[in-house]
Amino acid sequence: MVKFSIPAVALSIGAGISSASAFAPSPPFSSTRRAASPLGMAAVAEQQQRQSPLAPLTVWGDRIPDIIESQRAVRSRSSEIEFAPTVRSSDIGLSRDDVDGQLSYFRDNAHEIRRTMVECGAVIFRDFDLMKEQSGFVNFYEALGMKVCLDPLHSVSARPTVDGSKNSPVYEAVNKESRKNFFIGMHNEFVGTRAPRAAAFVCFKPAETGGEFLIADGRKIFRDLDADVVGRLYGRGIRYSVMELPFFGWIDSYVPEFARPATMDLIKGLVSAAINAKVDFAVDLRWGEGGYDGVRMLQARAPSQPPILVHPVTGEPHWFCNVHSHSSKLRKDREAIYGAERFEDGASQINKSDMFYGDDGVIDDSDLEHIDEVTMKNVQFVKMEAGDVVLLDNYKCMHGRNVFDGTRKHGVAWFEGWEGEEEMRRAGRNGDDDADASRRRGAEAAVPFFATSL
Ligand SMILES: [Fe+2]
Repeated sequence: MVKFSIPAVALSIGAGISSASAFAPSPPFSSTRRAASPLGMAAVAEQQQRQSPLAPLTVWGDRIPDIIESQRAVRSRSSEIEFAPTVRSSDIGLSRDDVDGQLSYFRDNAHEIRRTMVECGAVIFRDFDLMKEQSGFVNFYEALGMKVCLDPLHSVSARPTVDGSKNSPVYEAVNKESRKNFFIGMHNEFVGTRAPRAAAFVCFKPAETGGEFLIADGRKIFRDLDADVVGRLYGRGIRYSVMELPFFGWIDSYVPEFARPATMDLIKGLVSAAINAKVDFAVDLRWGEGGYDGVRMLQARAPSQPPILVHPVTGEPHWFCNVHSHSSKLRKDREAIYGAERFEDGASQINKSDMFYGDDGVIDDSDLEHIDEVTMKNVQFVKMEAGDVVLLDNYKCMHGRNVFDGTRKHGVAWFEGWEGEEEMRRAGRNGDDDADASRRRGAEAAVPFFATSL
């Protein structure tokens, strides 16, 4: 989950899943295939020597003038929403072991695949041996013209890489055995002010049991939420608690009562300076009431932001809110099903998160339960096999991960964008200069430009 840490995942059931018909299969590959030239491990190593750029700043976009009317409009065109089509190698006339043909397919159809990713939120690729190994996976997304960036957690904690090398662009997708009973709630990858534009999740080895990758369409979640809940959350905004520091029980044990206020002010100032020097967004510290496990704690909250955005390319409104993964209540509810989170070290406790209204108000349990119900109704469980990839638009498509048993090896590459993105964006807005300028303002803002001031 996380902000400072965890990632997210999820899937959606049901409606809207289309077939490979969204793609126009290429002509017989025997006639169109170019000489494939897999990069090989040497090229992967070379890429790892290059420093990827930071994840891009989040594109907050324009504030939606009438959020309820916007939701009505989405509901009225609900049947038009298509989500996450699946493409199998056999759909395009290739055998699963024809890695050269597969690479040619991705090169020849890159534009159409990227367009489908943006319009449908995600594309699921199955039975492609090309992506069974990291080198082929890198070849895959480079053939598509995707531009890698650093993990958004880069500035606060390094997510491990699949091959263990420091500069690898392929990160572990929460495979640790110690986290196997932790259901990673639905989220968009987003840390502080940064959010990758897209991502490719790959399976190198599926877990023996469970471990499905989860995806959900943010447009459908927005569509299905109760209008009153949408109105409250959008009107007041949201803010995350991004970490809890549960180390301050000694204040009550060893500091005389008369000296506690001054001691706490001093600690808060020092910790605030240390954290704000480490991250690129403003963090507000608050002493917790009761603390973690009964221990006095400091809670760090990020700035207020909107829970619903307009898509940076298509302009469609969609849910962009990590409450499902970050809500302390929803996590505790899941613990009742899957067992308690296993905190093996202090870092795990620090990464505990929660979500509040933008004015720091507490969100009612009934609203959280409703959000959970709507989210899970839209989750699609994708049981990935070795070589399967889910290419997703990180704004439109949320993700998560089911609990698992056994050994799981999934990876992820983050993208700051792709070749032709600017042209796609202009076409999506029909060259609306005002909208373009507004989106640029949003992209350049360190925090949402309509965020509640604190
Ligand atoms: Fe994630």
